[in-house]
Amino acid sequence: MRDAEIRHLKELIGQPVRIHGWLYNSRSSGKLRFLVVRDGSGYLQAVVFKPAVEQRVWDETGKVTQESSLWVTGKVKEDPRAPGGVELEVTDFGIVALCPEYPITPKEHGPDFLLNNRHLWLRSKRQHAIMRVRNELIFGIRDFFYRRDFVNIDSPILTPAACEGTSTLFETDYFGATAFLSQSGQLYLEPAAAAHGKVFCFGPTFRAEKSKTRRHLMEFWMVEPEVAWMRFRELLDLAEEFVSSLVARVLDRCKLELEWLERDVAKLEPATQRPYPRLDYGDAIVKLQAKGYAVTFGDDFGGDEETALSDETGKPTMITRYPAAIKAFYMEPDAADPTRALAVDMIAPEGYGEIIGGSERIGSYEKLEQRIREHGLPREAFEWYLDVRRYGGFPHSGFGMGIERVVSWLCGLQHLREAIPYPRMLNRLYP
Ligand code: 4AD
Ligand code: MG
Repeated sequence: MRDAEIRHLKELIGQPVRIHGWLYNSRSSGKLRFLVVRDGSGYLQAVVFKPAVEQRVWDETGKVTQESSLWVTGKVKEDPRAPGGVELEVTDFGIVALCPEYPITPKEHGPDFLLNNRHLWLRSKRQHAIMRVRNELIFGIRDFFYRRDFVNIDSPILTPAACEGTSTLFETDYFGATAFLSQSGQLYLEPAAAAHGKVFCFGPTFRAEKSKTRRHLMEFWMVEPEVAWMRFRELLDLAEEFVSSLVARVLDRCKLELEWLERDVAKLEPATQRPYPRLDYGDAIVKLQAKGYAVTFGDDFGGDEETALSDETGKPTMITRYPAAIKAFYMEPDAADPTRALAVDMIAPEGYGEIIGGSERIGSYEKLEQRIREHGLPREAFEWYLDVRRYGGFPHSGFGMGIERVVSWLCGLQHLREAIPYPRMLNRLYP
């Protein structure tokens, strides 16, 4: 008997197979019993016909409970009405481990209950679909860079100093000294850009701000490209090409998942098309004021402002040239107006907020040294970073994209906590 995965059964019509999995649900009607089995790769309706099986098989399929682990054998039958296009005519069946009453049932559960049971919640159809979209996005990101000759250089997680001045870090004891969990791999990527030209890092990042919004996690995954000789304008093009190609890839390869999530894909289609609208920070302020927001030039944007700035046509918006004063120390000032930084934030449509933050970096030693002083940063901690300018400084640019924000947008989630397998939030470190 051949072991098979549910997703490949279409290729095995008419053949006998064995499936290992778990019971998703079941119902009986007279001499027929319908078991929906899931094996991680898909869902399969297995049909038990009493006269066609041994009494033992009929009895076992009658007592098997939701989420019991099991194996089932049978003949694959084409059925255009079934989800995967096939069903199974059961010949034999065995329970591997009988499951006591499963905590998660089709009825509504509150978010706290579900998060406490995240390790089990991951088995639910909706969560399964989200993780598949996340997986496709991650692979798409790596593929995008690989095809363009970027080199993957991983940045360290344990670091001796901060990177983004604006956020708080997690501290940990490092053999009597203090180490911080990385909030961005960027500073470590810049030296690698001098070594390889085009590089990216992709790993977990940590922010200890006590923010309790649907857009913030304490631990999230960020992908960060960094490119030697790239100027601000080309960076905007790269960000646009990156996001539009990822949206197209997920739309193409995750049709079933997006359907399960009841995502209105028509709302995502526009984001596959370039160009994206670009809005100068000054114009963004004017736009917000016209909409009645109490913002003045020099303010940073919160979640509400980001939502108000998102594009009605469904494309992400790139807000450019923020005041240098509200952005990080390493950002290159605009030559035309040095009070502005060559910074960009990409705002997703439909109120999903900032998905990308990036900038051209200061390439000159003197300018960077001055900025470190102005920001009151401990110079010793940045000597190595200054070396990138001391030994052959060069213009370069990069950005960071938090993937949970993108997963939320693509899947149409209310909250980032569903976009990562095990969310770390202000009041949650379990499981
Ligand atoms: O804008 P941020 O803070 O930029 C940086 O860290 C730069 N050093 C990146 C770079 O230029 N290489 O963060 C980048 C992105 C945001 O646009 C957002 O998508 C995500 O990271 N992000 C978060 N995602 C989830 N939870 C949080 N608390 C996040 N903070 C930022
Ligand atoms: Mg940002």
